[in-house]
Amino acid sequence: MKEEKKKKKTKNNFQKETEINKKDLIVYEIYVKSFKDSNDDGVGDINGISQKLLYLKNLGVNCIWLTPIFKSPQFDNGYDISNYYQIDPLFGNMEDFLNLIKKAKKYNILIMLDMVLNHTSTQHNWFKKAIEGKEKYQNYYFFKNGNSKNNPPTKWKSKFGGNAWEYVPKLDKWYLHLFSPQQADVNWNNKEVRREIYKIINFWIDNGVNGFRFDVINLVSKPDDFSNKKYKKDNYKNYTDGKKIHLFLQKLRNSYYDKKNIFTVGEFSSTNLKDFSKYTNENNSELDMGFSFFHLKVDYKNGNKWVDKKPNLKKFKKEIIKWQKYQQKNRGWVANFLSNHDQPRHISRFGDDKNYHFESATAFATLYILLRGTPFIFNGEEIGQTNLYNNDISEFRDIESKNSYYKFINERKNKEEALKIINQKSRDNGRSPFAWNNKKYFGFSKSDPWILYKNPYKVTLENDLKNKEKSIFLYYQKIIKLRKENIVFKDGLFFSHNKKKELFIYKRIFNNKEYLVVINLTNKYVKYKRKSTKIILNNYKNEKSLNYLNPYQAIVFEI
Ligand code: GLC
Repeated sequence: MKEEKKKKKTKNNFQKETEINKKDLIVYEIYVKSFKDSNDDGVGDINGISQKLLYLKNLGVNCIWLTPIFKSPQFDNGYDISNYYQIDPLFGNMEDFLNLIKKAKKYNILIMLDMVLNHTSTQHNWFKKAIEGKEKYQNYYFFKNGNSKNNPPTKWKSKFGGNAWEYVPKLDKWYLHLFSPQQADVNWNNKEVRREIYKIINFWIDNGVNGFRFDVINLVSKPDDFSNKKYKKDNYKNYTDGKKIHLFLQKLRNSYYDKKNIFTVGEFSSTNLKDFSKYTNENNSELDMGFSFFHLKVDYKNGNKWVDKKPNLKKFKKEIIKWQKYQQKNRGWVANFLSNHDQPRHISRFGDDKNYHFESATAFATLYILLRGTPFIFNGEEIGQTNLYNNDISEFRDIESKNSYYKFINERKNKEEALKIINQKSRDNGRSPFAWNNKKYFGFSKSDPWILYKNPYKVTLENDLKNKEKSIFLYYQKIIKLRKENIVFKDGLFFSHNKKKELFIYKRIFNNKEYLVVINLTNKYVKYKRKSTKIILNNYKNEKSLNYLNPYQAIVFEI
């Protein structure tokens, strides 16, 4: 009898869960360290997230992605995992996490964990054993002979600066690290490693998580042979979208084939349209969706992000449209976003955080949330949090930003110039503590946060809600509802209508229903004749002229 009851329960749960589709998801990324600190040690934590679930429910999101919460020495803020089965005490413990899952279920909020499987921390047991000389564990990584003591196996550069190989004198070998020397790349060619990975994934699924964000996942298929002859040049193509990547992702998917409703999103570093469509085409059983970054790299110069450059809006538009069209045609599925924990805040980068704070925040939200794909909102953007605007390098925490700054100084750039670039591009911009209210430290914590936010424009949730007409939070609520309840936005086709360079215009069409999304990307008035009088969303009220769009105006028409 008991057994029967149990079975029935599972069936009902399953039926309920199957109603969720990737097209229904509105994901919210939580940078755990900076969201809400429940024990006032200056660092955000799991219990802090539990306290804010009602806030998230009110916002309307139905899935949260937590940046890595696993045990880690935190050289790269948790993207250097030393134990995949343990929660880092900085964030709480397993009981806190299981409580969060339980509470989130009540609110119908799914939980996605951030899995870093391209590399482990050098403090992971596997790596420690490798260094002790155990061959089995050396094969978990890429330990290779160099051409000589001062000459690594290849000329590859680390993405955080410097060489991608670290010499271990004791072993007279080099190990590969595409990121910092504390993040050693893992060898997916080794079957034993893949088995360990499947075990990790299944452990967390069995503990109730609903999905994963896979960190830099298209870098995991490395070549078999690392001879310098073959890799004369340092080129990201040497290890990006590698030969066995699709096979590896299919095998990974297979490892939990019997577990239902697990959602996955891949972070794809410098990928291409074709591989992306394969990764995210549901017929291929690899991943559900993915992030690409070309629409953001529009303020780079020859692939270099550390330059002082305004974003090229024409290119921005072109990249978004290109990816929308190609993935639609080839059944890929894009995870749409403009900000995350590695990016400057989009309101400061593309909008005008000083003069058109509400307008530019809502214009860019309208732009990406209604595209074909799944929207990923980054914590803080729904109240218009801005870049940090720091005065000194000592105020930065990010390893990549610090490395770049000191490189500039070594190259004899002056401090002001170096700081200007770091302020513009630093990943720390997205890592400011969430500004809940107007108390000290914005209600994030009662003690000094691990990273400061001077918040020059006094952006807080409390201030945002004071003026209902111009509340970014309330606008996000509205647009999320629109997106969630409307099949046209969930499943409709995308068509771009771009005549004017200042405007981003697209249509979403499903059967005979049609919406037109019109966005002014600039702080200027732009001529535009309304195509319909049926307006379902508009970030301006009481318009004076119907022949113009106001600065950063966004309108959704029903056609
Ligand atoms: C991803 C993460 C980033 C991290 C890097 C290495 O790009 O988003 O924060 O530093 O991978 O794991």
